[in-house]
Amino acid sequence: MSDNPKSFNLSPELHSYMLAHGTAPDAIQQGLIEATSKLGGISVMQIAPEQGALMTMLTQLIGATRAIEVGTFTGYSALCIARGLPKDGQLVCCDISDEWTSVGVPFWEKAGVRDRIDLRIAPALETLQGIKEDDGFDLAFIDADKPSYQAYVEELLRLVRPGGLILVDNVLWGGNVINAENNEDNTLAIRAFNEKIAKDPRVDCVMLAISDGLTFLRVI
Ligand SMILES: C[S@@+](CC[C@H](N)C(=O)[O-])C[C@H]1O[C@@H](n2cnc3c(N)ncnc32)[C@H](O)[C@@H]1O
Repeated sequence: MSDNPKSFNLSPELHSYMLAHGTAPDAIQQGLIEATSKLGGISVMQIAPEQGALMTMLTQLIGATRAIEVGTFTGYSALCIARGLPKDGQLVCCDISDEWTSVGVPFWEKAGVRDRIDLRIAPALETLQGIKEDDGFDLAFIDADKPSYQAYVEELLRLVRPGGLILVDNVLWGGNVINAENNEDNTLAIRAFNEKIAKDPRVDCVMLAISDGLTFLRVI
């Protein structure tokens, strides 16, 4: 047990302060947040705006030109990654829902990044397995069905170049990763994934307590 955790749960006030002191969503991103909230409770699946800003910055910092996303929903994280790519960059987006991804497309168009995004509607594992360009990608983001996380990482370790970055979302799962009374399928899957990936010699692994937990995997 750590006796000096330095990180802590943000109060709503501190979270607001943090948002007010970082790059805010612009009108297009705000429009997508609002369009997604009209879907009701499911909108909770959208990544937080500060995570989106971080992902745009990371895309730029590593000089990514090709990226891949597993779990697009209404396209907010895709918009953030695509904006960090150069004009001729490419983002492959994997999702099974035409309905949800259609919400995002007009916002990708408004942002001028639609032509960077290659949306593939199919089970993500099939899409990943169908891509033959080993080492062709600089960045990946995993945010889909939790029991498949390990399988996605296995494919992405083939697709992402050495020195590239794989981001994995929801790794704290609302704190349930340490709640012994919660043994739901998704909780068990994320716990097992976290255990395994931290010891995987093929990656450097850093788990950050941003939003619902975001793991950074640097491919060795
Ligand atoms: C948490 S949401 C993604 C949120 C998104 N990254 C954002 O910023 O709004 C998870 C998405 O994964 C998709 N999904 C679930 N199972 C999938 C699968 N087997 N293959 C591809 N996508 C899947 C769902 O349709 C859903 O849109």
